[in-house]
Amino acid sequence: MGLVRIASLILFVFLGSAYQDENINNVASCDLNITINGGTIALSKGGAVGSILKYICPFGFYPYPASSRTCWANGKWSLMRNPRRRIIRNAECRAFKCPKPSIEQGTFFPNSVSYVAGDSVNFECDDGYKLLGSEGRTCLINGRWNGTTAVCEDGCE
Ligand SMILES: *[C@@H]1O[C@H](CO)[C@@H](O)[C@H](O)[C@H]1NC(C)=O
Ligand SMILES: *[C@@H]1O[C@H](CO)[C@@H](O)[C@H](O)[C@H]1NC(C)=O
Repeated sequence: MGLVRIASLILFVFLGSAYQDENINNVASCDLNITINGGTIALSKGGAVGSILKYICPFGFYPYPASSRTCWANGKWSLMRNPRRRIIRNAECRAFKCPKPSIEQGTFFPNSVSYVAGDSVNFECDDGYKLLGSEGRTCLINGRWNGTTAVCEDGCE
């Protein structure tokens, strides 16, 4: 009787550890229900441990706050943090923005809060000033204005 009990105990422990192993195997892949707002994802190794998940955004947009994540051995994707080190749960595609232009002795229009790729501005100088540089500039997908900086110079020559 004692032997049978020991044998069944051993069997139980064996089955228990086998069950646990299976569990670990199940965990050893990352959740595939991952999206990025405004974009798509590409996966290497189908979400298994070591997989790299890449966020893909349309032209003129970039993935925020990270462009890729790695599937860790614990079955979790690497965390994403913003520049202030805060954890961000859901990635999003953000448009590249151009810095707001500035000009002295002149104006530009439209005067917007922010400028994204494709937006254009036009510069004009106050009376008596001459415009040097580009009169019209367009925000490019890399977040830079094309042309050259517009400057208003005293018109007296
Ligand atoms: C996928 O995730 C979203 C939010 O993160 C959740 O609302 C949805 O139910 C999930 N879908 C599945 C199939 O798990
Ligand atoms: C900037 O790009 C726009 C749109 O492609 C173009 O119309 C414009 O002439 C360019 N301006 C300069 C100064 O290159």
